[in-house]
Amino acid sequence: MRERWSSKTIFIFAAIGSAVGLGNIWRFPYMTYKYGGGAFIIPFLIAMVLLGIPLLILEFAIGQKFQKGPVGAFKKIDSRLRGIGAGAVISGFIICVYYAVVMAWTLIYFVKSFSLKLPWAANAENYFFSNVLNLSDSISSIGGINWVVLISLLGIWIAIYFCVRNGVQSIGKALKLFIPLPLILLVVLFFRGITLPGALTGIFYYIKPDFTVLFSSELWIAAASQVFFTLSLGFGVMTAYASYNDPKQDITKSSIITGIADGAISLFAGFVVFSIIGYMAQATSSTVAEVATSGPGLAFVVFPQALSLMPFAAVFSVLFFLTLFSLGIDSAFSLVEAVVTVIEDKTKKIKKETIALVVCAVMFCLGTIFATDAGLYFLDIFDHFITNFGLILVGIFECIAVGWIYGAENIRSFVNSVSDWKIGKWWNVSINYLIPIILGTLLIVQFVNELSGNYGGYPSWSIYLGWTVVLVPFVTGLVMVFNNKN
Ligand code: PHE
Repeated sequence: MRERWSSKTIFIFAAIGSAVGLGNIWRFPYMTYKYGGGAFIIPFLIAMVLLGIPLLILEFAIGQKFQKGPVGAFKKIDSRLRGIGAGAVISGFIICVYYAVVMAWTLIYFVKSFSLKLPWAANAENYFFSNVLNLSDSISSIGGINWVVLISLLGIWIAIYFCVRNGVQSIGKALKLFIPLPLILLVVLFFRGITLPGALTGIFYYIKPDFTVLFSSELWIAAASQVFFTLSLGFGVMTAYASYNDPKQDITKSSIITGIADGAISLFAGFVVFSIIGYMAQATSSTVAEVATSGPGLAFVVFPQALSLMPFAAVFSVLFFLTLFSLGIDSAFSLVEAVVTVIEDKTKKIKKETIALVVCAVMFCLGTIFATDAGLYFLDIFDHFITNFGLILVGIFECIAVGWIYGAENIRSFVNSVSDWKIGKWWNVSINYLIPIILGTLLIVQFVNELSGNYGGYPSWSIYLGWTVVLVPFVTGLVMVFNNKN
């Protein structure tokens, strides 16, 4: 008998736990900042409604209906299609490797917070890039291993392992702590943020729509991939989680609740970050657009800075990094769980604990590349390629498999037979036409953009590495499709 979540609410908690994570507090704000603030919000919200929720319904539905993780579920549609599930899980695997590294940074900050005077108080930016990362000046000078990051990474992997080793029951227990805690802390930071001098300028930058940039294709693809990332779509995670549901459980409601909770938390986190950026702009007499580092370092400069301005700075700092950690860990273990589920579905004989141990150990070892002095650059490249291409490709193939091969109507009637809120025929249209067409167009346009110059001005060898990261899941999936042996 397949394992089960201990209750329906725990499943929704788990889905929200997976969705809400560093993507909301770390990735969403830096994407928004990078694409000019308010300009990013519109495509993000549109993508959330048009792509996010319908695809979430799809991923939940196939996991729950077929009672299998992503590979097994697609295999039930057609045995060749298991390649799609494999591509999704490998993409998730790659993401998890660097996601854990970002968590390792938070752990370092957490530990360093236990001091009377926060060590980054004087210059948060310098502290992050020089002290924590020891960042080299280009991706080509890899330098050595950053031992502090590596040890911290090991700590993260041990924590993840303990959360997943006993299966979904132990995950349920971990979630009861890791969902409420961060939310409370975020609210506290929100109030501190908006009462800082200059906060309003930052917030204005954040919410003022800028319609002129809406024609940039890069913006749209960034928004679409952010939606995939933040809703944990295209990684097989949601399918794996839903496979532990009772086949009769409500799907539509869970999807909508997860989508709204996740979107709302991202937007809320944006207020916190931008009010602080506004403050920083005023303090340094510069404009909002030029004050902070734009890129994956943003959250690690802005938040520590804000924390050092609070009364009882050290206390808040400890709490805040605990927040980031607790937000991230349930997303990280959902990724590991997807990989473990797939292996378990396949082997049946090996104990889950052993599978979890091996998966965690391998991911840790691969993470070493991001724990070098050039780690941040590698992370930026991996993240760019896998989210902009890998996930989008999985999304397209999911729609083709479910919409055209299995029949969107079959899934829709299954969803409606178990859910209180019924979904209309529009869903079939989205899965069959709208989503694949939108994603396909974005993909082509982005591909052309990519050819016109190296992403982020990185050297060509590193761009090839980025493409390799996309090709690994893609080619593995293809091989499985064409080499139909069991
Ligand atoms: N959705 C998570 C976040 O926003 C990240 C994640 C992606 C988790 C994929 C699981 C799978 O942080």
